[in-house]
Amino acid sequence: MSEKKRVAILISGRGSNMTALIQAAKNPDYPAKIVGVFSNRAAAPGLEYARTEGIPTATLAQSKFETRLDFESALTGILEDWHADFICLAGFMRILTPEFTTHWQGKAINIHPSLLPKYRGLDTHARAIASGETEHGCSVHFVTPGLDEGPVIAQARVPVAPGDTPDTLAARVLIEEHKLYPEALRMLASGEVALDVDQNVVRSLPA
Ligand code: GRF
Repeated sequence: MSEKKRVAILISGRGSNMTALIQAAKNPDYPAKIVGVFSNRAAAPGLEYARTEGIPTATLAQSKFETRLDFESALTGILEDWHADFICLAGFMRILTPEFTTHWQGKAINIHPSLLPKYRGLDTHARAIASGETEHGCSVHFVTPGLDEGPVIAQARVPVAPGDTPDTLAARVLIEEHKLYPEALRMLASGEVALDVDQNVVRSLPA
């Protein structure tokens, strides 16, 4: 296998998707290595897990920066110190500027708990139930300037059960997230998927 791609994960909270990525990357055949976990919240519970796994962590408080661009340029400095080839947003609750997303275009992916393009933004599970959906799920997509708008790499579907609450539906989707995100990162790091200059997802067969 060619050299593993270096991946940084950005979180703001619990970090269960981060945990799934860290676990997947322990497989010697996995094409990516997790080289750092960044959080914009120093109290994010996921940071502690990353530390126990021996993964470098870093935090920056956005309140210490005058502008979003200043914050992001410090963040890019950290990601460059880690020599990150790719970044995975995993519950990272901060809107990124077009400058940042353009800088990382094709190199940054996000997991979103809906079948995009449906239900961009927050409260996806409640909105899916309120709309009477019979099917819901999650998507991993390339990060582009529009919120949750980037081209989709992979999706997983779950049924919406009668009597589902946002919490029961979220729990069913989360099980799929933890399988989907490692698989999507594997596809990206192995070169099976890429983003071309026109923002189209290009897929090639496994080598
Ligand atoms: C997940 O549902 C993810 O899809 C969304 O935020 C949540 C993060 O959960 N973007 P966790 O921190 O990975 O547990």
